[in-house]
Amino acid sequence: MRIEDVPTPEPGPGEIRIRMRAASVNPADAYMLRGWPYVLRLQTGLRRPKNIGLGLDFAGVIDRVGETATDLRPGDAVFGEMSTPFTGLTRSFAEYLCVPAEQAGKIPPGLSFEEAASLPLTGSTALYAVRDFGELRPGQQVLINGAGGGIGVHAVQLAKHFGAIVTAVCSEEKASMVRELGADRVIDYRKIDFTAEDIRYDVIIDLVSSHSAKRCGRVLAPEGRFVWVGAVDSVPVFGPLRPALAVMRMSLSARGQRWSCLSRKTTTADLATLAGLFAEGALRPVIGRRYPLEEVADAIRYLEKGHASGKVVITI
Ligand SMILES: NC(=O)c1ccc[n+]([C@@H]2O[C@H](COP(=O)([O-])OP(=O)(O)OC[C@H]3O[C@@H](n4cnc5c(N)ncnc54)[C@H](OP(=O)(O)O)[C@@H]3O)[C@@H](O)[C@H]2O)c1
Repeated sequence: MRIEDVPTPEPGPGEIRIRMRAASVNPADAYMLRGWPYVLRLQTGLRRPKNIGLGLDFAGVIDRVGETATDLRPGDAVFGEMSTPFTGLTRSFAEYLCVPAEQAGKIPPGLSFEEAASLPLTGSTALYAVRDFGELRPGQQVLINGAGGGIGVHAVQLAKHFGAIVTAVCSEEKASMVRELGADRVIDYRKIDFTAEDIRYDVIIDLVSSHSAKRCGRVLAPEGRFVWVGAVDSVPVFGPLRPALAVMRMSLSARGQRWSCLSRKTTTADLATLAGLFAEGALRPVIGRRYPLEEVADAIRYLEKGHASGKVVITI
C-alpha cells in the first residue's frame, strides 16, 4: 500500500466533492487490501483490484457540488460511509473524495471531524445489531462478544440506551473503558468462558466468532436472539464465511430462538439517527488511536492484529 498523487476528482451529477479532514479504518479495509475472502475476487478483480483506493468512513467539508441539485452546499461539514465496499470507488484515505450526495449527512454541532469519521460504519452496524436484529427491549440481558473494538464500543452504549442489562466480553485491558461506556458486567475472555456459565441471555451480539454457534446456543434464552456480525480470525480463502454458515444452520434448526447474520447499508437516515443519539448524549465516539494519512498502512496493520481499542482514525 502506498500514497500517490492522483488528479483531484471532479464530482459527477448528484455527487459532492469533499475536502477530507478525517477517515477511520475498518476490518473491511483490510479485507479489501488483501482480497479476502478469495471468492470475492470474482467481484473485486481476479488478478488485481479493480479499484485501487481504500477507505470507507469519511468526514470533511464539501468544496464542490455536482450538477444535480442537492440540499448540501459547499462549506457544509459532512460525514458518512461509502456504500460500495467491493465494487465502487472506495477511497476515503485521500485528500479529496467524490461521493453521491445521498451517502453524506451533516455533522452535528459539537462533533469533531475525527469523531464524525469514527461513527458511520461501526456506529450504524451497532445500531442495526441492537435495534433491528436484536430488537433489544428494556430489562433484557444482552451479551456483546468483542465489546472493546470498533463496533463493540458503540453496541455497549446503544444497548444501555435501550435499557438492557449489558454483559461485555473483552480483554482485561479494555474492562474499565467498557464499564465507563455502560457495561453492567465485564467478562475477561482470557479467564472466563461465557458459554460455560449458567446464565441465559435474551440477545447475544457476536462480533468475533470466538466460540462455535452451538456453544453460544447453550447460553441463549429459549426465545433469545443471536446476532452474528463478524469474526476476528478470518482466513484468506473463506474469510468469515464459515462461522456465518454455522449461524445459518442454527437458524434452520432452532425452535423459539432466532439466529441471524447481520447485513446492512448505512443510509442518511442512519447518519441522522447517530447524530441525534450523539446530541442527546446516548452515544459518544471512542477513538483509541489516531494516525496521519501518511501512516495509513500502519493503522491497517494495527487493526489487523484483531485487538484494537475503540476506533482507529486517520487524520488528513
Ligand atoms: N456484518 C456486517 O455488516 C459487518 C459490518 C461491520 C463489521 N463487521 C465485522 O465485525 C467484526 C468486528 O468489527 P470491529 O470493527 O468491531 O473490529 P475491531 O475494531 O477490530 O475489534 C475487534 C475487537 O475484538 C476483540 N477480541 C479479539 N479476540 C476476542 C475474543 N476472543 N473474545 C472477545 N473479544 C475479542 C479485540 O480486542 P481485545 O481482544 O483486546 O478485547 C477488539 O477490540 C469484523 O470481523 C468486521 O469485519 C461486519
